[in-house]
Amino acid sequence: MMKKSIIFASVIGLVGLQACDDGRLYEQKTAIAPEGRTVKLTARLTGIASWPDPSMYVVVAGFNDDSDYALINKSVPTPLMEGEEITVQLAGIKENVTRVELCVINRLRRRILSFYTIDDAKLTASNDIEADAGTLNVGMYHTIQERVFNATCVNCHGAATSAAAGLYLTVEKSHAAIVGIPSKKLEGMNIVEPGDAAKSALYEALSTDVSITDAWHYNHTAEVVDEGILAMIRQWITQGAKKDE
Ligand code: HEC
Repeated sequence: MMKKSIIFASVIGLVGLQACDDGRLYEQKTAIAPEGRTVKLTARLTGIASWPDPSMYVVVAGFNDDSDYALINKSVPTPLMEGEEITVQLAGIKENVTRVELCVINRLRRRILSFYTIDDAKLTASNDIEADAGTLNVGMYHTIQERVFNATCVNCHGAATSAAAGLYLTVEKSHAAIVGIPSKKLEGMNIVEPGDAAKSALYEALSTDVSITDAWHYNHTAEVVDEGILAMIRQWITQGAKKDE
């Protein structure tokens, strides 16, 4: 069966080659239907309810490579059961869309971060695209852990034998080490004060020059330069700093 389809694919390939008379190889491109293309994206997601719609929400969205703003988007529904398979159908995808992503956008439809991408090659191969993003944990805290703490912070906060300021931001320890725990650097503040980013040492250190003025040994303001990611951390604190796993 496998063999047969390989032979079949090769024959199609040969026919395709013959059609190009200047001898160059072309990617297979289908003319885009006037009403646009349709993507059917299937996924098994956990943690989606942790996103505070409508200020930030999980969508299937179409982008142009030149911009972070979605040209078209559709909300991903929260499945009745965690991890249950869902399919989102995004129709009317016009020519200017060069990638379709399962991602988080904000109120202005700007991409905060992406979980899965369908690239231009796949988008131009057909007018009806099907894709499977697999099983993904899109939970807000899980995302902060992966994209922020694991990506940079743990280098100093826990991946080695010691942790700067005694603060462990590693996956097993981070939540219990920050939420409602008094700051060693900013007196009278907790590291994370649920509901109040301005009273959270972690947010203060990342977003203001507190770490310069208070003579910290390390200035944290260059740690998270992406405004969207910083906004996500603020939003997570504002809505209660919950652990979603
Ligand atoms: C290059 C090393 C380094 C990196 C990377 C780093 N930190 Fe730190 N951090 C420190 C040091 C050193 C301190 C101790 C404060 C001081 O004296 O500067 C500290 C202190 C802190 C504190 C204060 C703890 C308290 O008790 O008040 C927080 C919160 C913090 N870091 C969060 C983070 C986060 C979040 C990241 C990642 C976005 C991060 N840090 C990345 C070195 C680092």
